Amino acid sequence: MIQTDKKDFPGGLKVIRLETCDSTNNYLKENYEDLKRDFPVLVTAVQQTGGRGRDERTWVSERNHGLYSSFGFFLRAPHNLGILPLTTGISIIDTVKKISGYECGLKWPNDVLYNRRKLAGVLIENRISDTLVFCIVGIGINLNQARVDFPYELQKKAISLKMIARSESSFDPGSVNAVLSSVFLAWLEKLENNSLLEILAATRQYSAFLVDQPIRFHHPHTRALIRGIFKCITADGGVMLMTHDGNTVVHYSGEILS
Ligand code: BTN
Repeated sequence: MIQTDKKDFPGGLKVIRLETCDSTNNYLKENYEDLKRDFPVLVTAVQQTGGRGRDERTWVSERNHGLYSSFGFFLRAPHNLGILPLTTGISIIDTVKKISGYECGLKWPNDVLYNRRKLAGVLIENRISDTLVFCIVGIGINLNQARVDFPYELQKKAISLKMIARSESSFDPGSVNAVLSSVFLAWLEKLENNSLLEILAATRQYSAFLVDQPIRFHHPHTRALIRGIFKCITADGGVMLMTHDGNTVVHYSGEILS
């Protein structure tokens, strides 16, 4: 049984701070029965021993390097579930802007980039429980890594806030979590109130750097690699590409590789 104390609810959000766990997403799943009455809940860990990324990749999660957090909640507007990744991506970009002043870009659906290098990633896992949609929104933000702290194969692709700021001092995950929580809950409220135009406007603004750019797109189910020109984010949260024959296609799952 997980004990609850009123001070654990800043702004109505229950916060569980862990020293270590395998994955904050897993923690929410494994403790769902104990936690569900307190939703929305934020689980955050100083380090993760089994941090997970999209497509079964590993998310290296060492102490003092990053923010490792997961929000758990029931989505009050399940019909808007397809827009949740975009909502999360723009929340991270707004958070980074608030804490540091730096402006990041959004690589559909929810990778946060700075100078085309990855600053933050999101792993969303949903469960249907009775008629409710239980959402786990896992967020990893690179805060204090130096280039050599990233695995070798990521050293040209990843970046941390400390590298961007060229700063001696470190970013405190607790302070970043506080800003992220209020920003994310505010955007989530808009999602649940069907204010999708605002969410789409922010999404399109943050993805503008990709418009009319050639991209490679990896389709997860067929494993096909598609080359095309990024055209736009559609009103229902998909990505529209123009292929070599001049046709446009919209994808709702997959990954933009470059
Ligand atoms: C990605 O870009 O591949 C997604 C990375 C998501 C990492 C975060 S860290 C907190 C939460 N717990 C996990 O195991 N993964 C997410």
